[in-house]
Amino acid sequence: MPLERRDPPPGRLALFPGSFDPLTNGHVDIVLRSAHLFERVLIAVLVNPDKQPLFTPEERVEIIRKVFREYPNVEVDTFAGLLVDYARQKRASAIVRGLRAVSDFEYEFQMALMNRHLEPTLETVFMMPAEQYTYLSSRLIKEVFSLGGEVRGLVPPIVEEQMRKKQRAGQGAGAQGAGAQ
Ligand code: PNS
Repeated sequence: MPLERRDPPPGRLALFPGSFDPLTNGHVDIVLRSAHLFERVLIAVLVNPDKQPLFTPEERVEIIRKVFREYPNVEVDTFAGLLVDYARQKRASAIVRGLRAVSDFEYEFQMALMNRHLEPTLETVFMMPAEQYTYLSSRLIKEVFSLGGEVRGLVPPIVEEQMRKKQRAGQGAGAQGAGAQ
């Protein structure tokens, strides 16, 4: 089916959705690559009441804003419900997702096609992070950190600092409720 003709919205906006609990250097890498390709990048933090996150969505937004404070074309927000509805509301041109390895492909492929089924004019763009980040996931970061492992260089310094703060406050950084990315 040919795509319907439409006027491109002013300044192409890429949505980078995810759990970001916490943001890793792999996520940062994808955001910076996207910021070169698109006029604006909106990091959209999923509010998922079913999960027991390490950081609340508001904390994640605050941390991510700090990480990208020097990038005027990178914005941060939360969303709930269907991603395609949020993308329509924001007039996004594309959804950006990172592909680390073949193991990511099946899930990402299903999501991209389901999102296309729901909103045929919205493209999903896959980007590969730098090789040194291909093994990173938020879930593993939390697990390693909670067991006393070193996460320096794997997450932005602000994230590490906030994880230490949580740990000191006795909230730990366990793997429960971790997002896959
Ligand atoms: O970082 P994650 O957890 O891999 O991100 C997954 C995310 C947030 C992109 C996905 O769960 C999502 O889009 N959720 C919103 C609900 C939705 O639209 N579901 C249908 C996806 S096909």
